[in-house]
Amino acid sequence: MSTALSASPTADNVQTGLNKADTVTIANALKDALADSFTLYVKTLGVHWNVVGPNFFSLHKLTEEQYQDLAGAIDNIAERIRALGQIAPASFGDFRVASAIECETTIQNAEEMLTGLINDNEALAKRFRAFTAVAEEAEDVFTADLLTARIGQHEQNAWMLRALVA
Ligand SMILES: [Fe+2]
Repeated sequence: MSTALSASPTADNVQTGLNKADTVTIANALKDALADSFTLYVKTLGVHWNVVGPNFFSLHKLTEEQYQDLAGAIDNIAERIRALGQIAPASFGDFRVASAIECETTIQNAEEMLTGLINDNEALAKRFRAFTAVAEEAEDVFTADLLTARIGQHEQNAWMLRALVA
Protein backbone atom coordinates (compact mmCIF):
# COMPACT_ATOMS: atom_id res chain seq x y z
CA MET A 1 0.00 0.00 0.00
CA SER A 2 1.33 3.43 -0.77
CA THR A 3 2.19 5.64 2.17
CA ALA A 4 -0.38 8.16 1.01
CA LEU A 5 -3.15 5.57 1.35
CA SER A 6 -1.94 4.07 4.62
CA ALA A 7 -4.45 4.30 7.46
CA SER A 8 -1.82 3.87 10.17
CA PRO A 9 -1.29 6.70 12.65
CA THR A 10 1.20 9.27 11.49
CA ALA A 11 2.10 11.13 14.68
CA ASP A 12 5.68 11.20 13.38
CA ASN A 13 4.54 13.64 10.71
CA VAL A 14 3.04 16.08 13.22
CA GLN A 15 5.80 18.68 13.53
CA THR A 16 3.95 21.63 15.01
CA GLY A 17 5.77 21.96 18.33
CA LEU A 18 3.76 19.35 20.21
CA ASN A 19 5.54 16.57 22.05
CA LYS A 20 4.97 13.31 20.13
CA ALA A 21 3.90 11.35 23.20
CA ASP A 22 1.51 14.15 24.11
CA THR A 23 -0.29 13.87 20.77
CA VAL A 24 -1.34 10.33 21.75
CA THR A 25 -2.54 11.45 25.20
CA ILE A 26 -4.48 14.37 23.75
CA ALA A 27 -5.98 12.20 20.99
CA ASN A 28 -7.11 9.68 23.62
CA ALA A 29 -8.94 12.45 25.50
CA LEU A 30 -10.47 13.58 22.20
CA LYS A 31 -11.59 10.01 21.46
CA ASP A 32 -13.53 10.01 24.74
CA ALA A 33 -14.95 13.46 23.91
CA LEU A 34 -15.99 12.11 20.49
CA ALA A 35 -17.73 9.11 22.04
CA ASP A 36 -19.57 11.34 24.54
CA SER A 37 -20.61 13.78 21.82
CA PHE A 38 -21.80 11.02 19.49
CA THR A 39 -23.81 9.35 22.24
CA LEU A 40 -25.44 12.65 23.21
CA TYR A 41 -26.14 13.32 19.50
CA VAL A 42 -28.09 10.05 19.25
CA LYS A 43 -29.92 10.74 22.51
CA THR A 44 -30.83 14.28 21.47
CA LEU A 45 -32.20 12.93 18.18
CA GLY A 46 -34.30 10.45 20.19
CA VAL A 47 -35.89 13.27 22.17
CA HIS A 48 -36.42 15.32 18.99
CA TRP A 49 -38.28 12.39 17.42
CA ASN A 50 -40.20 10.99 20.36
CA VAL A 51 -41.02 13.79 22.79
CA VAL A 52 -44.73 14.59 23.24
CA GLY A 53 -46.66 16.99 25.46
CA PRO A 54 -47.54 20.65 25.87
CA ASN A 55 -43.99 21.84 25.09
CA PHE A 56 -43.67 19.59 22.04
CA PHE A 57 -42.94 22.24 19.44
CA SER A 58 -40.39 24.17 21.54
CA LEU A 59 -38.61 20.97 22.55
CA HIS A 60 -38.69 19.61 19.03
CA LYS A 61 -37.04 22.81 17.73
CA LEU A 62 -34.55 23.17 20.59
CA THR A 63 -33.37 19.57 20.28
CA GLU A 64 -33.01 20.08 16.52
CA GLU A 65 -30.62 22.99 17.14
CA GLN A 66 -28.74 20.91 19.69
CA TYR A 67 -28.30 17.79 17.54
CA GLN A 68 -27.21 19.91 14.57
CA ASP A 69 -24.59 21.62 16.74
CA LEU A 70 -23.44 18.22 18.02
CA ALA A 71 -23.08 16.90 14.45
CA GLY A 72 -20.68 19.74 13.70
CA ALA A 73 -18.78 19.20 16.94
CA ILE A 74 -18.38 15.47 16.26
CA ASP A 75 -16.79 16.22 12.89
CA ASN A 76 -14.47 18.88 14.36
CA ILE A 77 -13.33 16.61 17.21
CA ALA A 78 -12.71 13.66 14.85
CA GLU A 79 -10.75 15.83 12.44
CA ARG A 80 -8.63 17.18 15.29
CA ILE A 81 -7.75 13.56 16.19
CA ARG A 82 -6.61 13.10 12.57
CA ALA A 83 -4.58 16.31 12.65
CA LEU A 84 -2.78 14.87 15.68
CA GLY A 85 -1.84 11.85 13.56
CA GLN A 86 -4.23 9.38 15.20
CA ILE A 87 -7.13 7.31 13.89
CA ALA A 88 -10.61 8.67 14.62
CA PRO A 89 -12.87 5.91 16.03
CA ALA A 90 -16.06 5.48 14.01
CA SER A 91 -17.96 2.50 15.38
CA PHE A 92 -20.88 2.19 17.78
CA GLY A 93 -18.84 -0.37 19.74
CA ASP A 94 -15.95 2.07 20.30
CA PHE A 95 -18.32 4.90 21.23
CA ARG A 96 -20.29 2.74 23.65
CA VAL A 97 -17.15 1.66 25.52
CA ALA A 98 -15.60 5.14 25.68
CA SER A 99 -18.67 7.25 26.47
CA ALA A 100 -19.51 8.14 30.05
CA ILE A 101 -23.22 8.43 29.28
CA GLU A 102 -25.76 5.73 28.51
CA CYS A 103 -28.32 5.57 25.73
CA GLU A 104 -31.59 4.27 27.23
CA THR A 105 -33.44 1.70 25.20
CA THR A 106 -36.64 1.81 27.23
CA ILE A 107 -39.52 4.15 26.40
CA GLN A 108 -39.36 7.28 28.55
CA ASN A 109 -41.84 10.04 29.26
CA ALA A 110 -41.04 13.66 28.34
CA GLU A 111 -39.86 14.59 31.83
CA GLU A 112 -37.47 11.63 32.04
CA MET A 113 -36.11 12.37 28.56
CA LEU A 114 -35.43 16.01 29.43
CA THR A 115 -33.93 15.28 32.83
CA GLY A 116 -31.67 12.80 31.07
CA LEU A 117 -30.56 15.36 28.47
CA ILE A 118 -29.92 18.02 31.13
CA ASN A 119 -27.85 15.59 33.22
CA ASP A 120 -25.93 14.41 30.17
CA ASN A 121 -25.08 17.93 28.99
CA GLU A 122 -23.84 18.75 32.48
CA ALA A 123 -21.85 15.51 32.64
CA LEU A 124 -20.17 16.36 29.33
CA ALA A 125 -19.29 19.90 30.48
CA LYS A 126 -17.72 18.39 33.59
CA ARG A 127 -15.85 15.64 31.71
CA PHE A 128 -14.61 18.02 28.99
CA ARG A 129 -13.07 20.21 31.70
CA ALA A 130 -10.70 17.33 32.51
CA PHE A 131 -9.96 16.79 28.80
CA THR A 132 -9.20 20.51 28.41
CA ALA A 133 -6.71 20.26 31.26
CA VAL A 134 -4.92 17.43 29.38
CA ALA A 135 -4.63 19.63 26.27
CA GLU A 136 -3.50 22.66 28.28
CA GLU A 137 -0.87 20.58 30.04
CA ALA A 138 0.54 19.62 26.63
CA GLU A 139 0.30 23.22 25.36
CA ASP A 140 -2.14 22.13 22.66
CA VAL A 141 -3.98 25.44 22.61
CA PHE A 142 -6.12 24.53 19.61
CA THR A 143 -7.58 21.42 21.27
CA ALA A 144 -8.01 23.29 24.56
CA ASP A 145 -9.89 26.02 22.69
CA LEU A 146 -12.10 23.48 20.87
CA LEU A 147 -12.99 21.69 24.12
CA THR A 148 -13.49 24.94 26.04
CA ALA A 149 -16.06 26.04 23.46
CA ARG A 150 -17.84 22.70 23.85
CA ILE A 151 -18.03 23.18 27.64
CA GLY A 152 -19.80 26.51 27.12
CA GLN A 153 -22.19 24.95 24.61
CA HIS A 154 -23.15 22.06 26.92
CA GLU A 155 -23.69 24.50 29.79
CA GLN A 156 -25.94 26.57 27.54
CA ASN A 157 -27.81 23.44 26.37
CA ALA A 158 -28.48 22.42 29.98
CA TRP A 159 -29.70 25.92 30.84
CA MET A 160 -32.08 26.11 27.85
CA LEU A 161 -33.54 22.66 28.48
CA ARG A 162 -34.00 23.44 32.17
CA ALA A 163 -35.68 26.79 31.38
CA LEU A 164 -38.11 25.04 29.04
CA VAL A 165 -39.31 22.56 31.62
CA ALA A 166 -39.36 24.99 34.58
FE1 LIG B 1 -36.35 16.76 12.44
